[in-house]
Parts: sequence; C-alpha cells; structure tokens
Amino acid sequence: MLNIFKSKKEFNQDFDLDMNNIPNHIAIIMDGNGRWAKEQNLPRSMGHRAGVETIRRILKEATRLGVKNLTLYAFSTENWARPKDEVGTLMKLLVTYLKKELKECHENGVRMNVLGDTSKLPKECQNALEEALETTRNNTKINLNFALNYGGRNEIVRAIKLINSDIKNGKLNEEDINEALVEKYLYTKGIPDPDLIIRPSGEQRLSNFLLWQCAYSEFWYSDINWPDFKEKDLRKAIADYQNRDRRFGKVK
Ligand code: IPE
Ligand code: IPE
Ligand code: MG
Repeated sequence: MLNIFKSKKEFNQDFDLDMNNIPNHIAIIMDGNGRWAKEQNLPRSMGHRAGVETIRRILKEATRLGVKNLTLYAFSTENWARPKDEVGTLMKLLVTYLKKELKECHENGVRMNVLGDTSKLPKECQNALEEALETTRNNTKINLNFALNYGGRNEIVRAIKLINSDIKNGKLNEEDINEALVEKYLYTKGIPDPDLIIRPSGEQRLSNFLLWQCAYSEFWYSDINWPDFKEKDLRKAIADYQNRDRRFGKVK
C-alpha cells in the first residue's frame, strides 16, 4: 500500500504559508459525508467510507506542515440518535481504519488519543482503540485525537462530577477550583486549546464540540463536504488563520 506519509508529491506553494505560524492545534468537525453521498446517489455509508480516506490525507498533510495536535470530531453524543445501521457502519469503519492505519501511523510518529466516553462504544472498537493508544503512546510527531462519543456539555458535566468527588474524598479543596484545575478534569487534559476549528459542509455551528476549549479558537468554515476536502483546503484554512489578528481580549 502507498505510504501516505512518504509520497513524493511536490510541496505545494499555492498558499504562501508562514511555517513559523502553523497552528499548534487544529480541530476539525468532519461533516457532510451524508450529503456527499446523496449528491452521487450513493448510500450514506459510502459517504462515511469516503470520509475515512480524507482522514488519511489530512493527517498526512497536517503532519507534513508541522501541526502538533489534530483533533477530529468523529462521533458526537447526539449521533447515537441516528439509525442503528448507520451507527453500526461508523463504528465498523473506525475499527477498520485503526487496524489498517495503525502500523503506518506508528512508523510516522503519530500518537493516537481519544476524547469521549469510550465505555459506551462496541467492545471491538474499544479493543482497537486500546491497541492503537498503547502502540503509539510514546510517539511525539503529532497527536491525533479522535473525539468519539464526545459532547462538550457531557465533558463539562463529567468534570464537575469528578471535581465534586475529589472534594468529597479530600483530594481537593473548594478553593483549589480555578480554570487551570477544571482543564485537568476535561478529556483534553494536557492538550492545548485548538487554535483553529475547521468545519466543512456549509454548517456554521459547533454541534457540541470543544465548548470549553474553543474560547479563543479561530473558526474556519467551508462549503466543501468532508469527503471532498483536500490538502489544499487545509492549507487555505491555515493561510486564512495566519491573516487573523488574535487579540485575546487585549489591545494591540
Ligand atoms: C459527518 O457526516 C459524520 C458524522 C457526523 C459521524 P454526516 O453524516 O453528518 O453528513 P451530513 O451532515 O448528513 O451530510
Ligand atoms: C457533528 O456533525 C458531529 C460530527 C461531525 C461527528 P453532525 O452532522 O452530527 O451535526 P449537526 O447535527 O449537523 O449539528
Ligand atoms: Mg452532519
């Protein structure tokens, strides 16, 4: 199989990127698989399949550009409300992706991580994730975080419960609670906030993604459906990001 990380394709100069200002953390809401499939009279499952191919390409491009954290929203806490067979397809695709890509990801320094409550995922997914996380745990080139059974509100409620229980069992005092402490109780513990959040497919909403972490993220939307999202689209998003003035509430 073609090694996606080592393709000889020329580095594309289409966008004049400042390599010293590559976002440290890019988070993507991978949306539009269903609409992509509909456009071509294919079942939704084919859209999800095509979406997996985009993951391979975008991971490779993000790695090449020096992005250190890439978070992909793959399944939300609300996505359980979809038809059972679609949920099943998504779970199966995840297992296939992990099994197929693990070796190459590992060889290229990808560290895999999960955000979300994996205990509710099918056992097969849990096992594949466990293997992927364990195999890649010491890699440092790029962190690839899959948001799976992830919901921003669920994450915050969970943090509140964990903090409460640590206060009850004497590990914490109420006075210790501050923003830095809350962050330690989120799924994203230790991961910097996303600099750039990308949502393809034309929707301009967060859909319960990284609610706490997006306080100062830059948003970038595109009408392209995820299966059609290409490396150049990632470069375009980064180029736009580099033209933004991030003030963080201050005066320049
Ligand atoms: C994203 O594509 C995949 C998941 C949400 C899991 P969609 O399935 O939401 O595609 P659309 O929005 O129906 O086009
Ligand atoms: C967000 O997409 C979730 C993922 C991409 C995993 P949705 O398609 O579920 O979001 P809505 O329903 O359009 O807000
Ligand atoms: Mg959608």
